[in-house]
Amino acid sequence: MEPTAAIPRHVAIVMDGNGRWAKKRFMPRFFGHKQGVDALVKIVLACADRGIEYLTVFAFSSENWKRPSEEVSGLMGLVLVAVAKYLGKLANDGVRIQIIGDRSQVSDKLRAAWEQAESSTRHNTRITLSVAFNYGGRWDVVQACQKAIREGVPADQLDEARLSQYMALSHAPDPDLFIRTGGEVRISNFLLWQAAYAELVFTDCLWPEFGEAELDAALAEYARRDRRFARSAAS
Ligand code: FPP
Repeated sequence: MEPTAAIPRHVAIVMDGNGRWAKKRFMPRFFGHKQGVDALVKIVLACADRGIEYLTVFAFSSENWKRPSEEVSGLMGLVLVAVAKYLGKLANDGVRIQIIGDRSQVSDKLRAAWEQAESSTRHNTRITLSVAFNYGGRWDVVQACQKAIREGVPADQLDEARLSQYMALSHAPDPDLFIRTGGEVRISNFLLWQAAYAELVFTDCLWPEFGEAELDAALAEYARRDRRFARSAAS
């Protein structure tokens, strides 16, 4: 049996439920997203305190462009506000920030904010926060193949390890624990390649309410799992 490390090295989270959290309070969906950013900052630091080395969160999916235009522009604006409000703190707290996703469709202003977040935190080593923005798991596989082909990698040399080097999360080991908040039991095109052996934990908790107690409950569930990586239960 694969010994289960009590603490995962890499946690991935689909932060779902911001809209419902706001609706329950008769507030606009944007208010939920804003609260979601505050929840995220707390969880990054809580993960770092527990010795988790990598946290990857789904902030905006390739499919989120289909939302009403005011919600899409609200989310874009929120990123700029979040970077202005929290970058200094996260940088001081030892967080390295990486953005994964297709940057070609976002505004110059947003691209500049991402670059600033990455460059000002690149030497930090306490925890790596990868923010998936305009990201989709299928997009990731396709862009990795395109890069490999462009670099002239011969087809017979393109194995799993080689392709992984071109994937958006090549700076991180595969996630050990994949959490989705908000009650849906789906992967929704997040980290399709990388989450092949991740332990999946789904919770009804809406993302803005996901705090240290909920994180610890997910970690306890992870620690109870017997990770076999496709080997038999008896071995
Ligand atoms: C899902 O809730 C959440 C999102 C689509 C956005 C997640 C974004 C954040 C937490 C904040 C942005 C992050 C950064 C790093 C600036 P939902 O709207 O689908 O909620 P619902 O299912 O209740 O409608």
